[in-house]
Amino acid sequence: MPAFDKKTTATEVADAFAADIKGKTVIVTGVTAGGYGAEVARVLASHGAKVVLAGRSSKKIQETAENIRKETPKAELRELVLDLSSQKSVRSAAEEVLKYSGPVDVAILNAGIMGTPYAKTAEGLESQFGSNHVGHFLFTNLIMPKLLEAPAPRVVSVASVGHFWGPVRFDDYGFEEGKTYDKWAAYGQSKTANILFAVEVAERYKPTKLKAFSLHPGGAATGIASSMTKEDYEKFSDYYNPDGTPKGDWMGTLETSTATHLVAAFDPSIADKNGAYLVDGNVANEQAAPYALDKDQAAQLWTLSEELVGQKFAPPSAQPAAAGLN
Ligand SMILES: NC(=O)c1ccc[n+]([C@@H]2O[C@H](COP(=O)([O-])OP(=O)(O)OC[C@H]3O[C@@H](n4cnc5c(N)ncnc54)[C@H](OP(=O)(O)O)[C@@H]3O)[C@@H](O)[C@H]2O)c1
Repeated sequence: MPAFDKKTTATEVADAFAADIKGKTVIVTGVTAGGYGAEVARVLASHGAKVVLAGRSSKKIQETAENIRKETPKAELRELVLDLSSQKSVRSAAEEVLKYSGPVDVAILNAGIMGTPYAKTAEGLESQFGSNHVGHFLFTNLIMPKLLEAPAPRVVSVASVGHFWGPVRFDDYGFEEGKTYDKWAAYGQSKTANILFAVEVAERYKPTKLKAFSLHPGGAATGIASSMTKEDYEKFSDYYNPDGTPKGDWMGTLETSTATHLVAAFDPSIADKNGAYLVDGNVANEQAAPYALDKDQAAQLWTLSEELVGQKFAPPSAQPAAAGLN
């Protein structure tokens, strides 16, 4: 198996797993040009995957599709309009996926917002928690039948080292309706939730072939930093100059910062590390905050998330046996 590190590119990972990628259906959320999702989609399409470009703006999805087709004219692309900040939109996108003719092999839950001013989702949830976690929780659970049709399905939850900025605040995930809002603790909470979600999916779907992983992709200049202010650059002065340019060499490129997405999605050698957190292309549970991999908190978050979407999702072992088999 090739060794991956901070400098590995997504294309190098895809070359290593080319046979596994070809012909697979992969949903990637958050595919705006210039971001990680668009890069992952580009590399997957160039390696023969059928890529579902999921995003909240049809115009942005089409721009990414056009960019991909310049490089891979025969790319197999499909558009899926999905606004993670609206459960109604998530449900209608999932209904569309359930009508696809074949299985969904991998869902790469990549979309996200970071450090945004206090706002609420359509259902009144704090927006970073509501979009980054709750929207993906609902979407993944609703499309689960399609994932379970695949021979070796995976759920890839794109988190961040930013999960260190905060655990899930079970007693006050909404920051007292915004009164005590801290945009970085809120991002941290949402990214911790992304890691806990993979832990709980792995646990619940143990009886199946489904595997789930979370990851920190590495840093790169994308649209995600658009909400950052001068005060934020001062707060993170170890990493940024006052004008917002990065200090030192911690920042990677779009190509290197998407390599771990593809390792989590396709590397067969990590299959026995179900639920793990990856960094720089390798399993790196020791680099996660203990609260982010805590099994009790993962189960607690699942229950809370079910309440927030108003629907329970039973693990496969708890589902009634198919008619005729009992
Ligand atoms: N860049 C970094 O240094 C870094 C570091 C650690 C982790 N990450 C993680 O990497 C992931 C990708 O971020 P990125 O850096 O590529 O940023 P990006 O270019 O801003 O991409 C984020 C994507 O998420 C989409 N999105 C936001 N809200 C959405 C919603 N309500 N419904 C559907 N899609 C929505 C955005 O669409 P719009 O264009 O419509 O807003 C965009 O396509 C995020 O989960 C982020 O937390 C990034």
